[in-house]
Amino acid sequence: MKRKKITRRKFIAGTAAGTAGTVVAGQIPLFGNIPTAATSKPAIQGGDPVRTKAWMRWPVWDRDAEEPMLEVLRSGNWWSGQGKNVSRFEQEYASLIGTSRAVATSSGTTALITALQVLGVDAGDEVIVSPYTFIATYNVVFNQRALPVFADTDQETFTINPMKIEEKINDRTRAVLPVHILGLPADMNRINAIAEKYNLAVVEDACQAWLAEYEGKMCGTLGDLGCFSFQNSKHIPSGEGGAVVGNDDGLMDRCQSYHNCGRPYGESMASMSGYPIRGSNKRMTEFQAVVLLSQMKRARMDADKRLENALYLDSQLKEIPGIITYKLADGANRSAYHFYPFRYKKEYFENLPRERFMAALRAEGIPCMGGYGMQYHDGLVREAIDSRAYKRLFSEQRLNRYREELHELPDNDQLTREAVWFSQNMLLAGQSDMDDIIHAIRKIYENRKELV
Ligand SMILES: Cc1ncc(COP(=O)(O)O)c(C=O)c1O
Repeated sequence: MKRKKITRRKFIAGTAAGTAGTVVAGQIPLFGNIPTAATSKPAIQGGDPVRTKAWMRWPVWDRDAEEPMLEVLRSGNWWSGQGKNVSRFEQEYASLIGTSRAVATSSGTTALITALQVLGVDAGDEVIVSPYTFIATYNVVFNQRALPVFADTDQETFTINPMKIEEKINDRTRAVLPVHILGLPADMNRINAIAEKYNLAVVEDACQAWLAEYEGKMCGTLGDLGCFSFQNSKHIPSGEGGAVVGNDDGLMDRCQSYHNCGRPYGESMASMSGYPIRGSNKRMTEFQAVVLLSQMKRARMDADKRLENALYLDSQLKEIPGIITYKLADGANRSAYHFYPFRYKKEYFENLPRERFMAALRAEGIPCMGGYGMQYHDGLVREAIDSRAYKRLFSEQRLNRYREELHELPDNDQLTREAVWFSQNMLLAGQSDMDDIIHAIRKIYENRKELV
């Protein structure tokens, strides 16, 4: 793969020096051309770590954001009704993502609520959801007093398995909510075909998938509406923030109207009272918008860098027994890599538990995490379906069956036990930093017997 010169920011250039000095001279390279450390003691057992250098912190910002921020502060026009930044952001974000319209919201959660609301997801409906996601995807369905019905995950792609959707559809099903989790595109062709067959709405949770691509189009533009988050950890961050994107003017007018207390907008103008639909306040502030206008300028360059490093990691990590790199879903062109994921098969590591593998990796200077757990067994699901509202809205028979279905997600269960993630900011470093990751995992593999 062609490597690009690292030119973007001093802090990234500063992370580019390698740690090859920890490799014992004279060792025989076992994997590719990166030397291994077969005889070096794991750091968790008192050996030298592969890496001691810090990884870059997130978020980062550019000087050019400071002046517009001060201008907003000094103007007193802090809300979108007076300022110009939110509407400018909506136009620029729509054009970045490739839709005709965008509505800026206060968060990704409120973007999803807005989308479900305008698509008519209501109390007593069912929405088919990916179980492998941040908890907000469950919350927004419960927020509508609807039932999030989980279709099992495809372990290879980390996204909803389209083959498991149809069996979950019944006469209450109103929408499908696929999640492009970690930035990995869901199999949208198959999902859209099922949705069309059963006349279901499709809301894409693209809250981790800015600039991810599927069949040449951006994630978030493939269903009826797409939703994004700009929370602090995100690739285009503003502390909190979100957006709904789409091409249907009627739907987008309703999003504008709903998120702004139900005030009239576009097609939803005509009414006696001036409030044509039920609304809520889910507006973005001018402060959030000025930060986003600046953050957006860097998004493409960062996305390309993450892709380049992720492809390099793929090519090297897949050579290590027991490390199963992700697969892109059919039709997907590129991930956004909000996290870089792989599956850890402990059978290849003398049954070294994943927690111990991750602890050993962290000791080598490589931060990592195990990702989502089995959230469908958590209190929030129980609390919702045991509530008065749900008992009124759904039959006892349906709720009992729903409880059973929570135990019928074997692929997702296994994924929650095997996944390992690296965070997106690590992918903004240089190739020698990626070599540290590869080197550390190989070191653990080679020392697996001692580590058990
Ligand atoms: C997949 C997913 N959906 C929804 C959200 C909700 O976004 P927010 O935190 O901006 O409300 C997030 C945020 O992390 C997310 O990762």
